[in-house]
Order: sequence, then C-alpha cells, then structure tokens
Amino acid sequence: MPQEPKIDKTIVLVGIMGSGKSAIGARLALKLGLPFVDMDKYIEDREGITISEIFEKHGEPYFRGLEREVIDELVAGEPCVLATGGGAFINDEIRALIKKKARSVCIKADFDIILERVSRKNTRPLLEKGDKASILKDLMEKRCPIYEQADIIVDSSEGEHDIVVYRIIEELS
Ligand code: S3P
Repeated sequence: MPQEPKIDKTIVLVGIMGSGKSAIGARLALKLGLPFVDMDKYIEDREGITISEIFEKHGEPYFRGLEREVIDELVAGEPCVLATGGGAFINDEIRALIKKKARSVCIKADFDIILERVSRKNTRPLLEKGDKASILKDLMEKRCPIYEQADIIVDSSEGEHDIVVYRIIEELS
C-alpha cells in the first residue's frame, strides 16, 4: 500500500453511471479514514424519496437544481470522499466548483462492463427511457471527454475495486 497521502480537500469521484463511484468511494474513504458521502443517497435522504421518484414527480431540471445546491454544501465542509451522480460533473458550474475546491477522480470503465452493471438495476431514470445500450452509448460519447477533465483518471474495468483504490491513493500521494 502506498504511503497514505495527507488529505486537505474533499476527493470527488466522477464518471458515468455504473463506473463504480460509490463502491470504490466507500472503500477509499475507509482506507483514508475519511467520511464517505454518496451524493444521490444524500439527495434521497434530504428529499425523502428516491432519485427515480424525484425525476418522476418533479422532472430532471429539478433534480439538477438539487445537485447544484448540495454540491456547494458538500465541498465547503470538512474533507470527505464524495461519490457524485453521473450528471453532476457534466454541469459547467458544478465542475468549476469541484475543480476549484476539491480533488477530482474520474472512474472509467469499458462500455460492455458498464452496460452489464447498469442492466442489473432499474433505478436510473435516464436509462429507463428506451434502449439502455443506445442511451448509454450516447451518454458515454458525450460525457466521457468531460469526465476526463478530472485531476486523476483511473480505470475500473478490470480487477478488484481494492486495486483501483490503491491506484487512487498512489496518485493522490
Ligand atoms: C445520473 C446518474 C445517477 C443519478 C441520476 C442521474 C446521470 O447516478 O444521479 O439517475 O445523469 O448520469 P449514478 O451515476 O450514481 O448512477
């Protein structure tokens, strides 16, 4: 294990749905002895309903507004590991805020692996609007170059999440 880096800023994980942000983030937080926050879960707890219900009842723009609101709060507090939802870093204002106040880590993975992971669940409203594979392909084409503006890029396609965590810690050191 690389020497543990001194963390003075929140570490924000970004990437497409199913890239492993939450699972990797929780393990990374444990290794670094930092609190872990999952932004989607945080929003669900705050609103008292699921992300799918927020999209259904209030629409996507309302959800994007919530993301914008909570990110301000979350990057202003004590350092933590924060797993964002896949759309957060795509927003110009949110991305600028993260770049300024936090260290960002892009979790990448290959299309086939992501598709296999996201196909196991129906909790992602953007993928429920039609054919999952073509929606995902489209989103990845548009968004991946933006995720890659993060400070650190790691690939979660192969190997255990712990190996990815190890690589992130190496990069942070
Ligand atoms: C979204 C990704 C989801 C969630 C919402 C919208 C997106 O989070 O925030 O369904 O726009 O990519 P995960 O990336 O954690 O699945």
